[in-house]
Amino acid sequence: MSSDLSGLEAARAFAQGAHRLFIDGQWRPALSGKTFATHNPGDGALLGHAASAEAADVDLAVAAARAALDGPWSEIKPSERARLLWRLSDLIEKHADEIAALETLDNGKPLRDARLFDVPHAIETLRYNSGWATKLGGETINLSGPGTWHAYTVREPVGVVAQIVPWNAPFAMAVAKVAPALAAGCAVILKPAEETPLTALRLATLIEEVGFPKGVFSLLTGFGETAGAALVEHPGVDKVTFTGSTEVGRIIIRAAAGNFKRVTLELGGKTPVIVLPDADAARAAEGAARSIFTNAGQICNAGSRLFVHQSLFERVVEGVADYAGKLRVGPGLDPETQMGPVISDAQKQRVSGYIRAGVEQGATLRAQGAAAAGPGFFVPPTILTQTTPEMSVVREEIFGPVLCAMSFGDEDLDQIARTANASDYGLGAVVWTNNLSAAHRLARKLKAGTVRVNGGGLDPALPFGGFKQSGWGRENGREGIEAYTEVKAVAMAV
Ligand code: NAI
Ligand code: MG
Repeated sequence: MSSDLSGLEAARAFAQGAHRLFIDGQWRPALSGKTFATHNPGDGALLGHAASAEAADVDLAVAAARAALDGPWSEIKPSERARLLWRLSDLIEKHADEIAALETLDNGKPLRDARLFDVPHAIETLRYNSGWATKLGGETINLSGPGTWHAYTVREPVGVVAQIVPWNAPFAMAVAKVAPALAAGCAVILKPAEETPLTALRLATLIEEVGFPKGVFSLLTGFGETAGAALVEHPGVDKVTFTGSTEVGRIIIRAAAGNFKRVTLELGGKTPVIVLPDADAARAAEGAARSIFTNAGQICNAGSRLFVHQSLFERVVEGVADYAGKLRVGPGLDPETQMGPVISDAQKQRVSGYIRAGVEQGATLRAQGAAAAGPGFFVPPTILTQTTPEMSVVREEIFGPVLCAMSFGDEDLDQIARTANASDYGLGAVVWTNNLSAAHRLARKLKAGTVRVNGGGLDPALPFGGFKQSGWGRENGREGIEAYTEVKAVAMAV
């Protein structure tokens, strides 16, 4: 408890600072002098101000990143890059209570989630990628043309990388982007979401303390339409990695065309959770509830469409409703809270609008938990039944604690997969069953970047990304770090 309190005091003190941009190893105000405020979604209170970067600041950060790549950073051995990343993970561990509290203040999520998931995940991601720094390499190739050849490939860092992250897991996501990029030897410019700049600012102070060469990492707080847009259009940026809305993903693809930037996109999702007739109904219900109510449903991979065999439908839906009814919804700092607020009033209106539209289009409001009274942005955990594929609640990403539950009869696995695949998105899918053969056959048929059977969770070793409009490329695992490299083939006549 005492470490909780001191972590919170440290977080509050940090939040109030006069925050600047971190460019070329220095803290400096935005050239325009502009700043913006950040608030606690749990009570609306002002937390602090961050600098608002624009195109001129982006120019400076890109020039510093290029100089680092052309200079000291390229001389640093892989084992030293690994040590730097590991040192960063140790510093995060040392300040874990403060970072978790800062995340809760800025994002609103329950403190226990920040402590048990967000911060440990960031630490594990750094340690996992630290191991890759010394293991990235090419291969020798046997050529068949006339003559004698020695041919091989090398993997080189892709260069200057702009990383744009959203507000739903700001710290874990920033670290998950920075870690593989630095392990691969890239130079990074990170832009956190305007709603949640604080833990990225704290990360930058720790990166500074670790002692990377200047310019290797820059932090530009600011808005998407200014800082974000200038980064994705900049001819000096070699790659953009982005997590956020599908709409902005499209803007980034267009902007990247100027100099053919490499692009990795993690976009929206509408993850189906499929419960087959042999599943353990109680475990499936709890898993389905966690999947949609964790982080108040603000997870790209949230299980927002529930498909249950008719023989278990009532039991599973009753189980999820029971879970929703008991969920304690409140400010993230309240130790009793199990589900926090959504990020903003705009997001609350958006999610509430979807619930209203669902009911207007004929869905049944089967169950709704309690929502704490304001001033925080609370939305009750909600379960809709009698939903049909054409309804906006079934088609679109709501990004809130709203579950659409549907039943199916004795259809074959092809039909079940077709129904689950009837979405523009293809990020994740979850199957609950004890039938091994059905699980593996369904896993093949589902159009999703990640299929989970009888459980959830993220792991830095497991590739993550989407089919269809859920994005381009993969993060995490070998694929995640290789995405920060260019392959060069070298062939020599000998
Ligand atoms: P957004 O996609 O606008 O914001 C995400 C990040 O992109 C932020 O850092 C923002 O500053 C930046 N950005 C915005 N416009 C940009 C531009 N033109 N160029 C470069 N960067 C830009 O998402 P927003 O508006 O916060 O949320 C809207 C919806 O997007 C949510 O309701 C949800 O459905 C979806 N979303 C999905 C996320 C995911 O994890 N897949 C995360 C956040 C939002
Ligand atoms: Mg937006």
